[in-house]
Amino acid sequence: MLEESMDKPHIVTCTAPVNIAVIKYWGKRNEELILPINSSLSVTLHQDQLKTTTTVASSRSFQEDQIWLNGKEEDITHPRLQSCLREIRRLARKRRNDGDSGLDSTGLSHKVHICSVNNFPTAAGLASSAAGFACLVYTLARVFGVEGELSGIARQGSGSACRSMYGGFVQWIMGQKDDGKDSLAQQVEPETHWPELRILVLVASAERKPVGSTSGMQTSVQTSCLLKHRAESVAPGRMVEMIEAVRRKNFAAFAELTMKDSNQFHATCLDTYPPIFYLSSVSQQVITLVHRYNSYYGETRLAYTFDAGPNAVIFTLQQHVPEFVQVVQHFFPPETNGGQFIKGLPVNCTDLPEELKQAIGLEPMPKGISYVISTKAGPGPCVVEDPTQHLLESDGWPK
Ligand code: DP6
Repeated sequence: MLEESMDKPHIVTCTAPVNIAVIKYWGKRNEELILPINSSLSVTLHQDQLKTTTTVASSRSFQEDQIWLNGKEEDITHPRLQSCLREIRRLARKRRNDGDSGLDSTGLSHKVHICSVNNFPTAAGLASSAAGFACLVYTLARVFGVEGELSGIARQGSGSACRSMYGGFVQWIMGQKDDGKDSLAQQVEPETHWPELRILVLVASAERKPVGSTSGMQTSVQTSCLLKHRAESVAPGRMVEMIEAVRRKNFAAFAELTMKDSNQFHATCLDTYPPIFYLSSVSQQVITLVHRYNSYYGETRLAYTFDAGPNAVIFTLQQHVPEFVQVVQHFFPPETNGGQFIKGLPVNCTDLPEELKQAIGLEPMPKGISYVISTKAGPGPCVVEDPTQHLLESDGWPK
């Protein structure tokens, strides 16, 4: 019996959130360490709607490290996966040598089995790598008994992943050091800070993004002088203003900066040579719609932001959600009318004023948006205590 329990794998399951940047990260000064050319700021989305779940099992009976993503075995030798595994083990070894051992049953020499799933389609172009690497690092840390600052390790999986290590409003401070030790994420305000803030993800297409962010930003750094200008002379000031807008819950200021920064990021993509296009005709229609909506009311009630794909992420305040959803349904008539078009937080029905429709005055684009995910700011990574939720069997192999 004792033999058996000693061989039983040590299993931990955690979840981690997606984040959406309102001051964008685009461009690295060090590819290997993933060090950015500017600081960035994001909102962590609620895990009730969007999350990655990862189970890690460690056992001395495992022959090698292995990983399964969304049900399929993937290559564990991927350099970024290797960076995360190496750095967590390095930290665990350091803690043990410092006599501050979190290592009890889990041996440092043990190999791990990793299994990870998203509760949203990867192909939807949502930031799955951020949630994925954040979850991997958080779960590995638990398995190896390491605590404390982990965003510097998540960053080495994917830059934006470091911001998914915290809930609420998070900045990634670019840092100055060559070794990247000061390039870390930090919470600006917790998820409870701005309860009226709502986030709507308008899923424009299920197609995969044309140019990945890693190679896209590489070309931008090499060819775009607008990107250089942005990193040196625009982003630093915007970080200060954005933190201030978040602290004061100043929606108009937050919204304007968010839209301008998204637009500047896409302008740097156009300034890249050869140019990169992430915005589709649907994205452009959403941009026009938002500006016309805001000018109809004579105040900034909505903001859009777009990452390396055509999906729009809309920020607004709770009281404006029902009407805006009606607007989206009207100008992007869905395939199936009703229920499944809106996922996530419930949205009340409301009337759409004829005058508002007229003021927006766009030609409807049928099926332009497949569905909308309604969510809000949420917490950082969490441990799942219920063992029935493990993605690996008790022997440490996939179910
Ligand atoms: C447009 O973090 O995916 O979403 O560091 O190469 O993995 P790598 O890139 P990634 O880039 C994200 C770019 C962005 C903006 C942002 O999230 O800040």
